[in-house]
Amino acid sequence: MIWQNRLTQLLGIQYPIIQAPMLGVTSPEMVAAIANLGGLGSLPVGGLAPEKTLELIKKTKSLTDRPFAVNLFAHEIPEIDVSVARKMTDYLQNLSAEQHLDCAIPSIESLKFHSYTEQIQILLDEQIPIVSFTFGVLTDEIIAQFKARGVVLIGTATCVKEAVFLEQKGVDAITAQGVEAGGHRGTFLTPANQPIPQVGSMSLIPQIADHVSIPVLASGGIGDGRTIKAAFMLGAEAVQIGSAFIASAESLAISAYKESLQDAQDTDSALTRAFSGRWARGLSNSFMAKMDVEIARTGLSIPQYPIQNSLTTTFRGAAQKQNNAQMTNLWAGQSAASHAQMKSSAEIFNDLLQQVEQ
Ligand SMILES: Cc1cc2nc3c(=O)[nH]c(=O)nc-3n(C[C@H](O)[C@H](O)[C@H](O)COP(=O)(O)O)c2cc1C
Repeated sequence: MIWQNRLTQLLGIQYPIIQAPMLGVTSPEMVAAIANLGGLGSLPVGGLAPEKTLELIKKTKSLTDRPFAVNLFAHEIPEIDVSVARKMTDYLQNLSAEQHLDCAIPSIESLKFHSYTEQIQILLDEQIPIVSFTFGVLTDEIIAQFKARGVVLIGTATCVKEAVFLEQKGVDAITAQGVEAGGHRGTFLTPANQPIPQVGSMSLIPQIADHVSIPVLASGGIGDGRTIKAAFMLGAEAVQIGSAFIASAESLAISAYKESLQDAQDTDSALTRAFSGRWARGLSNSFMAKMDVEIARTGLSIPQYPIQNSLTTTFRGAAQKQNNAQMTNLWAGQSAASHAQMKSSAEIFNDLLQQVEQ
């Protein structure tokens, strides 16, 4: 297998295999393990406070001197609909009592959101060479600032329209995220009241590759030698792999989450807005089912991202403390059951290389 291509050159890496950014799962240790083996590790900092962003970057730098990507959430912060948020707060407070979860749902007045714009100076000061982003596009001014410093920019698209839009904005590469992918959908050009794109990787990768001239990273459902080769055949020049690393030794996932992946079937994941207010794929569990029942019964509405995400934070944290997989998000892709492995990130990465070479 000839690994070198436009992307390995652009990113300064040996293998075009990217450990996907996974907020809440990816640790600096995971990023460094992949970087040290010649792949690209991605450090997720979406929505984090500037101080936490700096701390994670410094920690990662202490573990590797290879390039790694930092991943941002490029969305705007919406206004809070107080009446919708208050009803959700009441629902979550009652559910936490019913589920014996020791937590206080934050008051609407106390909610604080961080925009990605607060993180840019840190990335520039720390001379981060690669910045990937999802949920939207960086402002023209910020794109220009990064480009002036030679930073490689990677945007996320879930349909051809978004990919073309990102290329016109001047990004250097595009992550094509199929509907199989675990975690949040990167969708950003679809109005909130319309159905989001649900194009599978098999259809999405070649169509995006046909419509843009910059390199495409394939993401969603990839995690063994066969799927990596298939993605390259379809026109990708790199693969971005998430679910395969969730159960790794360096993952921040609780043990019940890792175990759920081992027992999962291909049909066990679903798209939901219940945890964060944004469509995301995770293993179906009781929280998702209860929210659906409540919506049907009382007309409860889910506040938009990131409001719902913040309202459920203490609730999910309390569930995680109890190792309770039924009351927290278990983001996972459709192939997570066959790709997730309880090994070190380095072993998983080396297995992938070997499978492709075979
Ligand atoms: C637990 C989890 C968290 C994720 N968090 C992020 C994130 O912070 N930023 C991002 O761009 N994508 C995020 N994603 C999406 C991944 O980057 C990637 O698109 C996806 O995992 C690929 O599909 P796969 O899970 O089938 O490998 C997340 C995915 C998972 C499973």
